[in-house]
Amino acid sequence: MLATTLTLLATALLGGAGVSARNEQIPLLSGYTGNDGTKVPVRLHVMSRCPDARRCEAVFEEVVKTEGIDKKIDLTLGMLGKLNPEAEYGVECMHGDLECAGDAHQLCLVENLPLAQWYAVLTCMNFEHFPGAIGQLAFTRKCVEASGVDWWASGVGRCIQGRHPEHSAVANKDDPQEAVATINSKDEAWAYDPPNEGLGRRARRLLRDSVNQTISDGIKKSCTIRITSTLNTRYRDCVVDGGEWKGCNDGHEAVDFVKAINEEHENLARLNRIHIPAWWTLQ
Ligand SMILES: *[C@@H]1O[C@H](CO)[C@@H](O)[C@H](O)[C@H]1NC(C)=O
Repeated sequence: MLATTLTLLATALLGGAGVSARNEQIPLLSGYTGNDGTKVPVRLHVMSRCPDARRCEAVFEEVVKTEGIDKKIDLTLGMLGKLNPEAEYGVECMHGDLECAGDAHQLCLVENLPLAQWYAVLTCMNFEHFPGAIGQLAFTRKCVEASGVDWWASGVGRCIQGRHPEHSAVANKDDPQEAVATINSKDEAWAYDPPNEGLGRRARRLLRDSVNQTISDGIKKSCTIRITSTLNTRYRDCVVDGGEWKGCNDGHEAVDFVKAINEEHENLARLNRIHIPAWWTLQ
């Protein structure tokens, strides 16, 4: 009886300690959601209609397909822009409001879908005559559905469009949709400038917060790949600018990123094993 009580007490104390240690780690990971301190934060800082963004997203497609990598990385997107309360979506984007919409759509994907799924949708969006119709609602929806994701049931539709027109949270594949824009060349893609279609409240919020976070992280170039590190330096950054890779000390091929992620993940596991909250080492 006494032994049982002691065991319970010990479990409660240890359990409690574990929880509080974890809770203390999270605030230092500002903007890195869903990470309990066991995954390596990796963020691609991009603009949805930017060719350099497409380059680093293409390299990361290989990274994401690496066996077991989803258990090691907390991969997110960070958007670049300028905060401007007067702007259509509260943000000015280098390639216009259409890009802002595309950015917001992609942030809704990241928030609502598992890594392999949101990455598949992103790859679809980047596919042909880039930047294609990125930013058009019907185009994003087509890519979402082509990836086998239900627009409304997944939460993506709600995030991007706001409440379902019929106030139905369940799948309704018959709701009216615009046609996907036909884009036959890069020139057509760059000239494509449809009227604004609006964004749901969550999408606007994600866009504004993401741009703000990128500014406070001091990141100015799309694309900047940032791996938060507990080895060597605080960040491993790698930039693609005007088609050129810059500052990538660890290399810029998919295998190089996988290697860096594996090293960081092993170190995080080591820090967690000896109960050093990894993020304290960053201060
Ligand atoms: C941007 O972030 C700062 C804190 O870093 C905050 O004070 C400010 O309100 C944010 N701005 C917007 C528009 O969210």
